[in-house]
Amino acid sequence: MNIAGSIVLVTGTSRGIGRNFVMAAIDKGAAKVYASARDTGGVTDLFKAFGGKVVPIQLDVTKPEQVAAAAQKCQDVNLLINNAGANGGVGALSAKNMSAARNEMEVNYFGVQSMCRAFAPILKKNGGGAIINILSLVSRVNIPMLGSYCASKAAAWSLTQAVRAELAAQGTLVVGVFPGAVDTDMAKGMDLPKLNPMDVAKMALDAAASGTEDVDAGEMAQGIAAGVMNLNFKAVEKEFAAYLPQS
Ligand SMILES: NC(=O)c1ccc[n+]([C@@H]2O[C@H](COP(=O)([O-])OP(=O)(O)OC[C@H]3O[C@@H](n4cnc5c(N)ncnc54)[C@H](OP(=O)(O)O)[C@@H]3O)[C@@H](O)[C@H]2O)c1
Repeated sequence: MNIAGSIVLVTGTSRGIGRNFVMAAIDKGAAKVYASARDTGGVTDLFKAFGGKVVPIQLDVTKPEQVAAAAQKCQDVNLLINNAGANGGVGALSAKNMSAARNEMEVNYFGVQSMCRAFAPILKKNGGGAIINILSLVSRVNIPMLGSYCASKAAAWSLTQAVRAELAAQGTLVVGVFPGAVDTDMAKGMDLPKLNPMDVAKMALDAAASGTEDVDAGEMAQGIAAGVMNLNFKAVEKEFAAYLPQS
């Protein structure tokens, strides 16, 4: 996947890693970036900064009619970046109700599936291209203080494997990115070392450029991946369970 000259669509560009994806893709020579957001007012400055190269489009990934409209409008895309995400910051049982869990699944799982389904034929038509799914280190193991969010990101990882297999025949590369904590609104209040969102965006684009399928971004994510792969999974599970507040 050559980022220079590519036509990119990024979901969730109003803030955080998504905004940085827009800037990083332009920096790496993308010809056009569709900066999608629920409220395009949040990307006006990107449009102004990069002129015709950044095209704002309205897109709530949980709304099928908006996904269909985006696919209709963005027929030239050859790199889809599923970045939009929601994290209610609650435990699976300690949450007052299931509304956060349902929203997390809608955005982090069904939203990604819906975008992959809508754009797979477009990527095929444009030579194969690539999809980058922003997962998380918590796709690999649950941190119960964010229990339902982790479940949705684990589902998104499983989906990534399925989509990768289904799209192999059309030559679409599917990259899964597993960052540790990143310095954005989502990780506000988390007392952990945090990755710079621009570094995460650049790592993900470099992975697409080099044909790398899985990226554990940052030391924490690499440690977790190593723990899981070395079959120390039980130890990692127990370590994360210990973060639950003790009553
Ligand atoms: N921050 C971390 O520590 C961390 C670590 C690992 C993985 N991630 C993942 O990285 C991705 C980006 O997160 P971030 O850290 O940049 O978080 P963020 O600053 O909270 O940004 C989340 C973005 O997703 C958008 N969004 C939420 N619901 C949406 C929907 N229904 N349709 C379209 N867009 C929607 C938000 O738009 P609005 O402004 O309209 O709300 C916002 O642009 C997510 O997939 C997240 O799970 C984050």
